[in-house]
Amino acid sequence: MKEKPDFIPFTKPDIGRKEEKAVIEVLRSGWLTTGKKTEQFESEFAEFTGTKYSLALNSATAGLHLALEAIGVKRGDRVITTPYTFASTGEVIRYLGADPLFADIEEDTGNIDPGLLLKTLAQLSKNEVKKVKAVIPVHFAGLPCAMERIVEIAENYNLIIIEDSAHAFPVKLGRGKYRDNFAGTVGTAGVYSFYATKPITTGEGGMLVTKDRSIAERIRIMRLHGIDRDVFHRYNSPKSLWKYDIVAPGFKYNMTDIAAAIGLVQLQKAFKLLEKRRAVAKKYIGALSRYDFIDIPRFRTDHAWHLFVIRINADKLSINRDEFIGHLREAGVGISVHFIPLHIMTYYRKKYGYRAEDFPASYKKYAASISIPIYPGLTDDEVGRITDTIIRIGKQFHKRTVS
Ligand SMILES: Cc1ncc(COP(=O)(O)O)c(C=O)c1O
Repeated sequence: MKEKPDFIPFTKPDIGRKEEKAVIEVLRSGWLTTGKKTEQFESEFAEFTGTKYSLALNSATAGLHLALEAIGVKRGDRVITTPYTFASTGEVIRYLGADPLFADIEEDTGNIDPGLLLKTLAQLSKNEVKKVKAVIPVHFAGLPCAMERIVEIAENYNLIIIEDSAHAFPVKLGRGKYRDNFAGTVGTAGVYSFYATKPITTGEGGMLVTKDRSIAERIRIMRLHGIDRDVFHRYNSPKSLWKYDIVAPGFKYNMTDIAAAIGLVQLQKAFKLLEKRRAVAKKYIGALSRYDFIDIPRFRTDHAWHLFVIRINADKLSINRDEFIGHLREAGVGISVHFIPLHIMTYYRKKYGYRAEDFPASYKKYAASISIPIYPGLTDDEVGRITDTIIRIGKQFHKRTVS
């Protein structure tokens, strides 16, 4: 019987002794939820990213929701983003009764195409333009969007920028006016994800950064039920301030100290983890760049390398993307697909009548893409096995023989 090869998971968090110790310390401290560790994580994160306010949350989804709420997005408004994103970016717009307005991506990068952003806005009537309150650029896979152009367009159309930086940490733009800015710190607010697969993780978690005091204050209240004072300071104040007031119907979006303790350790090694993902990307590019049956991203340092997305060249192969995935899985390689665009999802199709071809670059990229493993713990042997497997499948199913 043929032995099954060891499975290489698509993703694996980099969790070590320090995270274990930090969690145990919190578990023994007598205080598990939002408290001192969360405050420390917020202040270290603000310092790290050079932003004024950092607000720790239980997810990036919460951050996007709170940001839109804080800038006053309401029923009937519209928010521009791309369909090439995760569920969160679209659903938070709907939470507030607003509607997404999609602009397509650059097929190569997966990021919003500034030309198409402008075109989408230019097509609207004056009254329609007034309804568009914000733009959410998604830094796909960890590559920062063309922020200089996006800022210019946003200023012309009076749009607030909320950056979906779920994938993009810790990476600076590296070029142009915002070269020294971290992705996520250019717009009015930026949101990072600490979900288990993300560049740094707290299991589940997120951080919102902003320079805007009124937005920070609104979010501080809305992340915890719209209560004017957080529980930690109520319970732990010498005056025992048991009284509180509710100033708005808020949400339950706070981070626990258990998560923050992990986050503090992860933040300290964020650049080290990036270096390791970068090294994997370099190896992939070195091994795969000479084959015409796939397109791969080019190496760049202004990239968080959260994902490594290869695109299958259907013209060169006798199998399609899904079949290619089947062969990879059979060889024990974990994969994922980023993203199935929102506009082909049932909810968005039914609600807005979208067809796949409405956003051709998103659809085309989706139809060709496979995300292959990229994480700090991926060994040289595993990288070799993955690239060998891709090359073997590509050669086996090439329309002509590849030497
Ligand atoms: C582009 C994008 N935005 C937002 C999110 C949401 O992050 P979270 O799971 O922390 O809510 C994700 C999660 O995968 C994502 O990929």
